[in-house]
Amino acid sequence: MTEFKNDDFANVMLDRHSVRHFDKGYKIDRSVLTDMVKEATTAPSSCNLQAWHFVVVDTDEGKEKLRQIFMPFNHPQLDTCSAMVVLFGDTDAFKKYRDLWQGMYEEKKITKERLETILGTFLPIYEKADKTLLTADAMVDASLAAMQFMLDARARGLATNPIAGYDATKMALAMGLDPVRYVPVMAIAVGKPDESQKELVSTRYDVKDVLEFR
Ligand SMILES: Cc1cc2nc3c(=O)[nH]c(=O)nc-3n(C[C@H](O)[C@H](O)[C@H](O)COP(=O)(O)O)c2cc1C
Repeated sequence: MTEFKNDDFANVMLDRHSVRHFDKGYKIDRSVLTDMVKEATTAPSSCNLQAWHFVVVDTDEGKEKLRQIFMPFNHPQLDTCSAMVVLFGDTDAFKKYRDLWQGMYEEKKITKERLETILGTFLPIYEKADKTLLTADAMVDASLAAMQFMLDARARGLATNPIAGYDATKMALAMGLDPVRYVPVMAIAVGKPDESQKELVSTRYDVKDVLEFR
């Protein structure tokens, strides 16, 4: 299990801010990025569908492909981050679902009856679902994993900026993916903050404006 550098949860969560200027010379090892994605995927997902897909762009060639479709105001993050993690929703995730639950049964995590109930209840929902529902579910799943990734980065002393300012119609193809199956959710710039740059600390609405009890 990862030993996080910062185990002060209040600091990790409450002091997270989008960072848009990174230390350009700082590289994050691919094994670390892999661990970060693995940890992000402990996120909950609808019926445990895990309809997320990550493309980690940490090469000049990959960044150049993103540059073609990123809005110019997002170029500083792209140019300076250690990696740009592009998150997609996988609208075909349900096709692996049977194997996942079968594996859980074989590991004796669930009984045969539970396996049959799950496959008989949830799988048909997805098999019959239209693209709109599959897309909506996949976007929620991937968004939860995205938030976990950003907090994981904080706990490692890194910073992030979630980004949706790009031509979403071109993202899947730019990353070599099937654009019918994979829906772009967001990209996340990750790296060491450039301490010489003053970053904005954004204001939130008063909780009273966004909260109701019934
Ligand atoms: C889905 C999403 C898309 C975003 N897209 C961009 C973007 O394209 N460029 C950018 O600089 N920040 C982007 N942001 C960051 C927001 O501007 C930022 O989260 C918000 O202003 C609150 O600031 P904070 O992250 O520092 O708390 C995005 C955030 C989210 C959640």
